[in-house]
Amino acid sequence: MGCWFPFHAAGQATRDEDGRYYADNGEPTYYIAQDGQVDWSTFNGYRRYHAQCHMCHGPDAEGSTFAPSLLAPMKAMDYTTFRDLVIHGLRTVDPAQQRVMRAMGQDRNVMCHLPDIYVYLKARADGVLGRRRPDNHQPKSEAAARDEVACLGNP
Ligand code: HEC
Repeated sequence: MGCWFPFHAAGQATRDEDGRYYADNGEPTYYIAQDGQVDWSTFNGYRRYHAQCHMCHGPDAEGSTFAPSLLAPMKAMDYTTFRDLVIHGLRTVDPAQQRVMRAMGQDRNVMCHLPDIYVYLKARADGVLGRRRPDNHQPKSEAAARDEVACLGNP
């Protein structure tokens, strides 16, 4: 793919494996080309976020009355921390309000797409993806299609 990282945002990818992108530290991340085309994971993450998370965290991760915006917390959150949080959920109990995020570790529609949701949120948190559906995206790789079937298909 020649020179495929034309600019270097905070979480921009430096490594590409089967159409999935990774930062220097091995964390999954997004890839956005100069013309705005995003990688498949970022696009899929957009769709999955808006199916599973937006009803609480708001469209484009901007927050709602039910749950906080994810833009600030996702700036520094690594994938392991994020994954643990979604698997186990989160409950803050304070006298003024009780906020609860349910555990989603058993929900395949969330877990099978979690790296994609993560990279989408990273792109939003890094300020490199606006409030829009990223329709200009790379095609789904064979590896992504295969992994999705394997994950969703095994009871
Ligand atoms: C039913 C509402 C609801 C849904 C659906 C939901 N969340 Fe949450 N989420 C919350 C609440 C409420 C909090 C804050 C909990 C707290 O402060 O203890 C939270 C917290 C978080 C945090 C931690 C934010 C921080 O400040 O550290 C992350 C990350 C997160 N959610 C990601 C997700 C993702 C990803 C999805 C979709 C797969 C999702 N949430 C779906 C309600 C929800």
